[in-house]
Amino acid sequence: MSEEPMVTGVDIGTYLTKVIVLKQLRDDIPPSVVAWGTSFTEGMRKGAVVDEVDVARSISRAIEDARYMLDEPIEEVYIGFGGSHISSFAKREKIAVSKADGEVSPDDVLRLKEHVARHTSSRNRELITVLEQRYTLDETGGIPDPVGMHGIRLELEGLLIEGDEAAVKSQYHAVEQANLKVADSHLGVLAAADAVLTKKQRELGVVLVDIGASTTSVVVYEERTVIHLAVIPIGAAHITNDLAIGMKTSIDIAEMVKVKYGYGSPDYIPEGATQRVSLSEFSKDESASFSVKFIAEVIEARIQEIFEFVNGELARVEREELLPAGAVLTGGGANIRNIVTLAKSELNLPADVGYPTDLEGDIADISDPLFATCAGLVKYGMNQEHEHEPSRSSFMSGSVMGTVGSTWKSLKRWLQTLFPE
Ligand SMILES: Nc1ncnc2c1ncn2[C@@H]1O[C@H](COP(=O)(O)OP(=O)(O)OP(=O)(O)O)[C@@H](O)[C@H]1O
Ligand SMILES: [Mg+2]
Repeated sequence: MSEEPMVTGVDIGTYLTKVIVLKQLRDDIPPSVVAWGTSFTEGMRKGAVVDEVDVARSISRAIEDARYMLDEPIEEVYIGFGGSHISSFAKREKIAVSKADGEVSPDDVLRLKEHVARHTSSRNRELITVLEQRYTLDETGGIPDPVGMHGIRLELEGLLIEGDEAAVKSQYHAVEQANLKVADSHLGVLAAADAVLTKKQRELGVVLVDIGASTTSVVVYEERTVIHLAVIPIGAAHITNDLAIGMKTSIDIAEMVKVKYGYGSPDYIPEGATQRVSLSEFSKDESASFSVKFIAEVIEARIQEIFEFVNGELARVEREELLPAGAVLTGGGANIRNIVTLAKSELNLPADVGYPTDLEGDIADISDPLFATCAGLVKYGMNQEHEHEPSRSSFMSGSVMGTVGSTWKSLKRWLQTLFPE
């Protein structure tokens, strides 16, 4: 077995499970992609596990696919989580600094974190993690760590991520059933953002839109901070379903037609392009034919709907048409022809497709927006390994609300899991 550290990322999408393996081949160069694999996923719905056995099998197949390129086994993986059950909201709390001389103590910070984390979520929804904490001490804002500073009123603003914790745990179970150990997990959409966005874009204000098969995940950055995160329950598979209904054919044929002849809008069909598609090209049992214009109309209607929802999410944080670095599109849906032109007109923002670019090695096949989340997960994994610290798994180390109030120690531990550095 080789000595170089090896890190594996697994993105369990509703349509496709993706695997990327990174290895630090030499200390003086960035880690390289040494293997990758995919499998069609079974057992997921809207980004959440509905059948653990099927998902475990899908993971095993994708791992096997990557194993052909490796001479050692894959034992541990970094996984992403997401799905339409994930939502976020910003929360702000304040406390009076307790010491008479006004010096902020670690206990003040802990008390404040507890205020932020103590919220009433509805049944079955758990607080999964708290992102982007920024303190304000009296009039001074944007403080990363206020301990030791002096003031009267200490405020903390955080972005709370909540979701169905059982759904996330099911993903862990599926990975374990595939005989793999979970090294850590990370929000999939944040991983995609890490893989494709620059610091500059995050500073200026940008929205990442990951158009998956069944979900479209959105994350908005400004001043390098996540200001909003949401998962919309519509994706590129809905286009396939619409086409299957419109052409009265199977999902498989509709999928092939979409990829081969689909345009984001009838306005973008090039003059010399094929104008009519016969389904007999895909199956000897089919004979109907349809205009490429009709197919484009079906696609356009769904994409417009997706971008309307994206606008709705931007409106929630008052950033509709207002992000200077525009929209960056990832996920398989970002491969739809002319989607960038549609994004620009529907969102009224600059737009581009996000490719996971800063990986080294065998990357030709994974330079695809569909691999953005997986690329981000494996990068996250490599960073964790380099930090040489116990993984700060965002929620599996007992971050359930029930832990609160038991002991001071467990409260501290719980808050540490909820408030990653
Ligand atoms: N060239 C293409 N043209 C049109 N659609 C495409 C193309 N390539 C991929 N897709 C679509 O992208 C989707 C798969 O994307 P992706 O792998 O990002 O989804 P997923 O991660 O499996 O799903 P989710 O994130 O919703 O769980 C499929 O619906 C597929 O039809
Ligand atoms: Mg996905």
